[in-house]
Amino acid sequence: MSEHFRVHGGARLVGEVDVVGAKNSVLKLMAAALLAEGTTTITNCPDILDVPLMADALRSLGCEVELDGDVARITTPQELSHRADSEAMGKLRASICVLGPLVGRCKRAVVALPGGDAIGSRPLDMHQSGLEKLGARTWIEHGCIVAEAEGLHGTQIWLDFPSMGATENILMAAVLATGTTVIDNAAREPEIVDLCLMLNQMGAKVEGAGTSTLTVHGVTELKPTEHRVIGDRIVGATWGFAAVMTRGDVRVRGVNPHHLDLVLEKLRMAGAEVTVYEGGEDEGFRVVMEGRPKAVDFVTLPYPGFATDNQPFAIALSTVSEGTAMITENLFESRFRFIDEMIRLGADARTDGHHAVIRGIEKLSSAPVWASDIRAGAGLVLAGLCADGATEVYEIFHIERGYPGFVENLRKLGADVERVSS
Ligand code: EPU
Repeated sequence: MSEHFRVHGGARLVGEVDVVGAKNSVLKLMAAALLAEGTTTITNCPDILDVPLMADALRSLGCEVELDGDVARITTPQELSHRADSEAMGKLRASICVLGPLVGRCKRAVVALPGGDAIGSRPLDMHQSGLEKLGARTWIEHGCIVAEAEGLHGTQIWLDFPSMGATENILMAAVLATGTTVIDNAAREPEIVDLCLMLNQMGAKVEGAGTSTLTVHGVTELKPTEHRVIGDRIVGATWGFAAVMTRGDVRVRGVNPHHLDLVLEKLRMAGAEVTVYEGGEDEGFRVVMEGRPKAVDFVTLPYPGFATDNQPFAIALSTVSEGTAMITENLFESRFRFIDEMIRLGADARTDGHHAVIRGIEKLSSAPVWASDIRAGAGLVLAGLCADGATEVYEIFHIERGYPGFVENLRKLGADVERVSS
């Protein structure tokens, strides 16, 4: 028997919510533990399915992994298996991040092509060409990406696009290469900075984290470390949008507000009053909204642009805003597919290529809808909060891959949401 969410719209969200560690950071940090023999400890791990899946993937490579609340202890042996083709690997996108560390340490890797969300084509050409510039040969064979190298040597790499995954893999291979590697047009996301920070704590020499040019001076070995995962800026953004859409008052804790600078600016443009809290235990922000939001345009771009992962929330907000908004999606061509589900809820929306035009209406109308990926699913729940009647959201396992305690947090903020057996 499967479960779905039943969302009764109409409640104003009010209260406080804690944000956990970032999904798109923790999985890469777990992969980075492969680079050092011994026990690496990662804290503030979110309680989401992808973490135990990644733990299984690391175990299949010979690591011992202990998950204890929000702490992951990964003990990496001297001799690692280079075959990462277990079932767990195919189930999550981030599994591809073991490729760089395995090539770095074993000089050979066989990694199952990753799974993950159905948001459009997700090629690996930049991962491959980056590793090839470092001296590896790579090819696809029997559903796996294979990489082999005699040795890895520093080089200059220009990425066609600031891909997070390609930056991470090249970085994690380059830290153990001989000489200096420069990655130009590198991704600048906070999760990349988090990874660079942990690698440097392990003894790597990475300069330029958070800029488009990463310079990596290779070292011969890394040592294990302890590292705390940064707060999840996408989860934080979800609560910010929820506050504006329900004309609520939500205090979000546990995330660096500067990782959401553009998001918070857009929420201000929609009419919200936003306060940021920097550093320490209070770190986070508060969003207070009175009255109907005003329509705002959004364009997705790599960080510090507006994240593609937040695009479904921008669509959801636009459906109930006053005026017409244009949303432009520049990263994943299938990410507008979920708009058909929004239309079931009465949204006045049209798409043309990578543009969506949404005319806001006063109130959505409840309907059964199906989540197709984590963020689209969360966006549908946000829309359900603004619909009259009970919106049934199916395929919620997608949502739960990114949001620990989603229903519990929503209920704490006053939403009328329940988990129901289908
Ligand atoms: N791309 C290529 N070739 C490559 C690699 C990427 O053409 O070799 C293209 C992609 O097709 C896409 C763009 O480059 O158009 C950016 O892709 P990127 O590599 O940055 O994405 P990713 O590393 O596969 C991560 C997140 C996604 C998030 C994107 C963009 C993880 C596990 N996933 O994916 O998160 O949407 O970056 O920010 O870190 C999510 O959390 O819901 C999610 C899908």
